[in-house]
Amino acid sequence: MQFQFRDKYVATEEPIIIGLPHEPAQMDNYEEVDTLLNGQLDAIIKEDVLSTEFGVVTTTGAIIQRDYRKVIAVGLGDARALDRVKLSEALGVMFQFLKQTDTVKGQILLDTFPVDSHMAAELVAIMAEISVYEFNSYKVDQAPLFSETAAFSITSSVDIKETVSHYGKLGEGIIMARNFSETPPNLMTPEVMADKIAEIFESHPYVTGEVKDAATLEAEGYGLITAVGKASYAKPRLVTIEYRHPAAKGYKPVALVGKGVTYDTGGYSIKSKTGMPEMKYDMSGAANVIGMVHAASNMSLPVHIIGVVALAENMIDGNAMRPDDVYTSYSGQSVEVKNTDAEGRLVLGDAVFHASQYSPSLIMDFATLTGAVVAALGEERTGVFTNKDAAFLNPLIEMTEQTGEAVWQLPISEMEEKNVRQSAVADLTNHVEKPGRASFAACFIKQFANGTPWIHFDIAGTGTTSKTTPSGPKGATGVMIHTIVKMFETGHFHG
Ligand code: BES
Ligand code: MN
Ligand code: ZN
Repeated sequence: MQFQFRDKYVATEEPIIIGLPHEPAQMDNYEEVDTLLNGQLDAIIKEDVLSTEFGVVTTTGAIIQRDYRKVIAVGLGDARALDRVKLSEALGVMFQFLKQTDTVKGQILLDTFPVDSHMAAELVAIMAEISVYEFNSYKVDQAPLFSETAAFSITSSVDIKETVSHYGKLGEGIIMARNFSETPPNLMTPEVMADKIAEIFESHPYVTGEVKDAATLEAEGYGLITAVGKASYAKPRLVTIEYRHPAAKGYKPVALVGKGVTYDTGGYSIKSKTGMPEMKYDMSGAANVIGMVHAASNMSLPVHIIGVVALAENMIDGNAMRPDDVYTSYSGQSVEVKNTDAEGRLVLGDAVFHASQYSPSLIMDFATLTGAVVAALGEERTGVFTNKDAAFLNPLIEMTEQTGEAVWQLPISEMEEKNVRQSAVADLTNHVEKPGRASFAACFIKQFANGTPWIHFDIAGTGTTSKTTPSGPKGATGVMIHTIVKMFETGHFHG
């Protein structure tokens, strides 16, 4: 979406787009808007021509400086309740209305939103990207995307140009992740994804990277990702990207690790015909890590990040792993595979141990890991787990309250520690036939953190959404990119 900036209202043919709180006098530019509407603002609201009800979009016409103009208003409700989450929601609804009504031009009067101008600008920039997201499909008649045709001007008494451009980059990171996730699995194999990542970061300042191909992974002892990927014609890859801003010298890096199973059939522990569709999204953890690094580096955040994505396709052939196989992980621990559908923890075992070799101060992994986390927490809360005490998660939890990306901590305890060691023939097993599977899976990954502080995000429920929300359509969400990038931006990971 294109934006132009103005410091005051200019009479044009474009519709004017405003926020409308319960008490319009709470708008910074009440007088100006009221004048624009010929002193009719209060009457327009009183007569229910425009609604102030939160999240409701209404339109009317007004004669402005002798010409007829369309006015589009998004209701903001009580201005005092308008926090970041609420404002994002209202803006999402507003942009979705513009898209639905094919309104590709307009003048957004930012001062009508009764919040700090930079906060409004930040959320406009993010929501403009994500709320009207559309995957550029393979339909012959795919119309041009709204995001490519829309061009709005933002009128604000405060100069917010830089803010909009800065946070547009965060939105772009989310869009990039969604595009990776939405791409069909025959077109987004480990190799293709690795190549795309290399291409994307090729000319990024302060970014370096490495791609390990299947032969290298096998030769260097990455036995778990090798096992998961070996039955597919599309061979596995392990991609590491390092973003090191010069101002982050002397800091240990923070490692972000993503599960990138480009398709999960389950392998010989095969999924059912209703359980398998949608498993193209099983690389969303990896996609979101790429989105995070992309946003952080584009925003030039003064941080040091190691991004690791473990890319493999979980398929079946004569060489596929079987339940009962034993493989040696990159960490040296042996693993008995009891269920080939519990493949995410396997690729992450190798990837997390690989990340630990960079001596990070913190490892965070993101994975569509278990159906169990969806059963426990639903589709709108990400399960979080850590090898530190619960208080360690507080800054993260506080940030999610700002971004609206809810998380809920689930336990790892002695029980799980015992269960992951239940194999008769290997150090670890990837599966036991017991309930509590989200915690079991998390505990398995914990064995590869090498003692590094670690947070695991099980995004099986939140990586996709089954319905349109103000943050975007059905499908991939790019969950946690917003939260983690804001954590980096506010210096939370660097001491
Ligand atoms: N990718 C799936 C988890 C998943 C399920 C993600 C549904 C999104 C929606 C994962 O690899 C998996 O198959 N997990 C199994 C593990 C079980 C076999 C121990 C599960 O959760 O059922
Ligand atoms: Mn699986
Ligand atoms: Zn999976």
